[in-house]
Amino acid sequence: MVDNFIQRIREESPTLQKMIFLNHASRCPLHGKTQEAIKKYSEHWGDFDFEGSNDVFKESRSKFGKLINATEDEIVFTPDVTAGSRLAANMVNYDKKSNIVCYWNDYVALVYQALFLKKTKNIEYRPVADRKNCVVAEEFANKIDKNTKLVMLSHVQWLSGCKADVKEIAKIAHENEAYVVVDSIQSSGALVNDVKDWNIDFLTCGTAKWLLGANQAGYFYVKKEHIEEFEPPFAGYHGVDSGSHDQPYWNVSNLAYVEDILKFMDTNPSDFLYYISSRGMELILEYGIENVEKRILKLTDYLVQELQNLGDYEFISPLEKEHRSGVVNIRLPDNIELVKKLKNENIIISSRYGGIRISPHFYNTEEDIDTLVRKLKLFLT
Ligand SMILES: Cc1ncc(COP(=O)(O)O)c(C=O)c1O
Repeated sequence: MVDNFIQRIREESPTLQKMIFLNHASRCPLHGKTQEAIKKYSEHWGDFDFEGSNDVFKESRSKFGKLINATEDEIVFTPDVTAGSRLAANMVNYDKKSNIVCYWNDYVALVYQALFLKKTKNIEYRPVADRKNCVVAEEFANKIDKNTKLVMLSHVQWLSGCKADVKEIAKIAHENEAYVVVDSIQSSGALVNDVKDWNIDFLTCGTAKWLLGANQAGYFYVKKEHIEEFEPPFAGYHGVDSGSHDQPYWNVSNLAYVEDILKFMDTNPSDFLYYISSRGMELILEYGIENVEKRILKLTDYLVQELQNLGDYEFISPLEKEHRSGVVNIRLPDNIELVKKLKNENIIISSRYGGIRISPHFYNTEEDIDTLVRKLKLFLT
């Protein structure tokens, strides 16, 4: 049984009208609200009316803040996850003995920051092992020591869907005076995020997956007490006093940043992309992130149960409750071919890491999963 809200979302989405979409770990479908926002923006542009741009930015930061339990003044725009992890990794001070700790198989938006600093500054990189694709605090504890300056991890892993105990890992990092940066792109909009309870220093996220927004519209969270403590590692002009229209605008002989979070904004954010992304986040906020999480976990429980009935196949995803998320990956023979065959049947999932990665959002249904599993059965025999 789906409620009216979900029914409406499904009916209004051009993508969901055409296909069974179970691929949110890659990119979200187009929704009615976001399609409408694209049209509205083009009307404003046509009238050369950009008056509302500042409201768009304000609204967008506030919406994302609600989803991670932060306030607008702790959130700044970044184009993507990489830009946020790059900022964090380059803000920290390192010395000859310093090391950076990161899960070895995390997304390269994180791993490459460690590899880059190893290559350019000779900072030691300590990759963290997993336990059968499970990212666990004990393995982080094995690598973190008093010389660790930065700990990087995704809340939810992109390949396995493993959800990490960020709070415990941050505790270990802080006991050693290291900073923590979390990539939440596989989690924000799907699961309850709480940067205050996790007690993390930085968070980086994009909107094109579970937040139902556009590519290249991202956010970077900085814990309030760090805003004054850190200086931006790269030059940008959004975090300085823009002066007066009667003058040559910015001060061109001295770079003096404002004291708020905007000093970290080193790129020009797109009002268009954040306008679209706000409408996507609206869908999540209207349904309520707690309800979204509950439904996603119910659907993935059902999915796991149905996949187990397919035969004796190995799950790449950990099945323990505390590590579950919206992403389920199961190793199946000829997974790349399988995904292509499913696409021909208008069922959209991904092949990843030797398995098929399935990632339903809250508006998917048990019937979507039944159809997928029925097709899989057919293709596997
Ligand atoms: C965990 C994770 N981080 C980051 C990204 C994307 O990084 P960026 O926004 O820098 O392209 C992805 C995309 O699949 C991802 O799964």
